[in-house]
Amino acid sequence: MKGIILAGGNGTRMYPITKSISKQLLCVYDKPMVYYPLATLLSAGITDILLISNPNDLPSYIKLLGSGTQLGIKISYIEQLKPEGLAQAFIIAADFIGSEDVCMVLGDNIFHGNGFNELLVNSVVKVKQSQNATVFGYYVNDPNRYGVLNFDKSNKISSIKEKPLNPNSNYAVIGLYFYPNSIIKIAKSIKPSKRGELEITSINNIYLDNNKLNVELLGSGYTWLDAGNPDSLLEASNFIQTIEKRQGKKVACIEEIAFNKGYINFDQLKHLAHTLSTSEYGQYLLNIKSK
Ligand code: TTP
Repeated sequence: MKGIILAGGNGTRMYPITKSISKQLLCVYDKPMVYYPLATLLSAGITDILLISNPNDLPSYIKLLGSGTQLGIKISYIEQLKPEGLAQAFIIAADFIGSEDVCMVLGDNIFHGNGFNELLVNSVVKVKQSQNATVFGYYVNDPNRYGVLNFDKSNKISSIKEKPLNPNSNYAVIGLYFYPNSIIKIAKSIKPSKRGELEITSINNIYLDNNKLNVELLGSGYTWLDAGNPDSLLEASNFIQTIEKRQGKKVACIEEIAFNKGYINFDQLKHLAHTLSTSEYGQYLLNIKSK
């Protein structure tokens, strides 16, 4: 399975901060925001990754993450000239996806929870075997900001509504999507919504109507944060700081994940650690023990 990180957009809710820097390069406590979605893909076992961003910001991502070889993975980059919707990613990425299945994660989405890594690995297998799409619903207080699951009287999901004024439920569809290869054809078939965007909700409704959408509701043991405005960015930083300080273990430490997954060996990990050793993050890497 291939992986996509969607890290473009306008970031207008973060103005003036994001007038000169991409939102997904801002820091969430001790690391750039984009480390979190990258960690999600690495934990899923996905090592061939495309990062999509706008032409101005792409060079900064290349400077930060390079070709991925230092992590034992491959990272490619492609421009989205204008942010014309999440679903546009699959059109831009069609050549990259080729004949494989694909997982897309939004660049400002952060996930945490016991069992989350198993959930990721299982989703990769499930999509491959069933050729159905998998998306996740998460109970939130403010569902009208998201794609929202509509349930019918028998509690079956009947549709997904994008940013509804009167949401039928509190379940938002989170920014992590697993699709079979049919996604390319479906993405090319949809039309822009009233707000002029190619909506991922349109894609998900097509899979749902064809009985090919698997929706998993995430329980309260999982945390989903989207760091899209100043408050949620601060909350995300505080959340990560609390967990890391309490548990003594870093969240979304891409070098550690690459080592644990066997993408790099201990010597490669130590080399990366030395390049960062003046920071607390680098010191953490230096203290990781060999297996
Ligand atoms: P949004 O939060 O919908 O958009 P945004 O980040 O540009 O924010 P704002 O509303 O403040 O202007 O996007 C969700 C994620 O998807 C975010 O990481 C940006 C990314 N994105 C793209 O890369 N391209 C797009 O065309 C869109 C719509 C979003």
